[in-house]
Amino acid sequence: MTPQFLRTKSIDKLLSDAEAPEHRLRKTLGPWSLTALGIGAIIGAGIFVLTGTAAAGESLEVHSLLKAPLLSVLLHGEHAIGTAGRPGAGPAIALSFFLVAIACGLAGLCYAELASMIPIAGSAYTYTYATLGELVAWIIGWDLILEYAVSNMAVAVGYSAYFDSLLHNFGISLPARLSEPMLNSSLHFTGSYFNLPGFLVVMILTVILVVGIRESAGANNFMVGVKIAAIMIFVIWASGHVHPSNWSPFMPNGFQGVLTGGAIVFFTYIGFDSVSTAAEECRNPQKDVPFGIIASLIVCTILYCTVAIVLTGIQNWQALRNAAPVANALAAIGLRGVERWVTIGALTGMLSSLLVFQLGQARVWFAMSRDGLLPRAFSKVHKRFRTPHVSTWTAGLFVAIPAGIFNIGTLADLSNIGTLFAFMLVSLGVLVLRRTQPERHRAFRVPWVPLIPFASVACCLVLMASLPVETWLRFLIWLVIGLTIYFTYSRHHSEFAREESRNAGQSGR
Ligand code: ALA
Repeated sequence: MTPQFLRTKSIDKLLSDAEAPEHRLRKTLGPWSLTALGIGAIIGAGIFVLTGTAAAGESLEVHSLLKAPLLSVLLHGEHAIGTAGRPGAGPAIALSFFLVAIACGLAGLCYAELASMIPIAGSAYTYTYATLGELVAWIIGWDLILEYAVSNMAVAVGYSAYFDSLLHNFGISLPARLSEPMLNSSLHFTGSYFNLPGFLVVMILTVILVVGIRESAGANNFMVGVKIAAIMIFVIWASGHVHPSNWSPFMPNGFQGVLTGGAIVFFTYIGFDSVSTAAEECRNPQKDVPFGIIASLIVCTILYCTVAIVLTGIQNWQALRNAAPVANALAAIGLRGVERWVTIGALTGMLSSLLVFQLGQARVWFAMSRDGLLPRAFSKVHKRFRTPHVSTWTAGLFVAIPAGIFNIGTLADLSNIGTLFAFMLVSLGVLVLRRTQPERHRAFRVPWVPLIPFASVACCLVLMASLPVETWLRFLIWLVIGLTIYFTYSRHHSEFAREESRNAGQSGR
């Protein structure tokens, strides 16, 4: 008999569990709400913050092997120290955005096929349960919690800083003791008590998420409208100030610059996978989830490439190395009014990204609990609102409290590694299910299998290898904590464990 940790859950059982009345979620989302959820998650702080660093590059002082990218350490050993500055892509940053979009698109196609077969809340976690077995499913569920939680802790801290600077424009200043993290990135006390805006923004979004999926999607649609409008305003106004001479040389640091720029802007695309976590709340998930994933990726790719082309056209790429490159470039060419719009767009962008990631995180807690891998309370559904309220509150506190205490921005790479790992397993999942269940209906099919899933795995591996060794270590520590929970709790409480003890009880009678 297959050992429990390798047992896969049947897709029919997954689908029937989701229909049990006590776990049934309200089904209200259509293709456009799903696309808006995708855009809501994808366009967050990244495009407004990271584009400059990716274009201008970073001169990183790598003084230990831990700070060097894993690939350099593997290839150059000790010599990796001191050699890992990040050359910028220059004006070719638009090309970096395009190449990363292709890498995400490959994974997006694989997500779309699995979501059309298994339209269940847990996304990559559920797909892995059906393909690679309980242990790998646990690992990926635990990994998704990391991806969504760490990214949101970082965005909540960023939101607080932007919010503070917006209030400054209106002559209001928040007391520093209540608006900054208690500990800085080196874990030293800053003198502040708590980052209240960072905490409150997550808790207010949690209330919206508990009240209803329809209300959450409505709030998200509005925020997506505002941020797309802000980006369009930037593109339309700023394009009149483009100097084509700024685009030359187009690739100042060659293709290596384009690749390092790509590794930095990968963060800006994270989030399209969260569309699949809402699969159980869709009216027609088999068709609409693939549509939402692919449409949101296409819209964001067009917006990102356009912003990159205009931004590097209005200011020399070397001047973009700062924390607010879009706003600062506008200020430099005297478009102060447009700059204010961009700040509002950035704030709204962060809000909707926070909202959708919290939604996704709660759905993963919910799905894992329904399978018995986490305590049962997390899969309770609110009687009136039909939302997973316990997991939503838990996910809210899990992010809001650390956002109040730590300056976690430097850990954003952890979110990247977690996401890439999930993309890789989803791509492998497509290959496994094509082999084990070729006859099962797929409303969406990845073309050119196995080429596309393999290409997706290869892209993920290359990007993961470009992350620093310390990110890999932190990721491994997170996985070790997860495995300890699996072997001490989840393994004994999962559906399979209960089934085995029922069978043993019956044969003993
Ligand atoms: N993709 C999201 C952002 O750029 C996480 O903020």
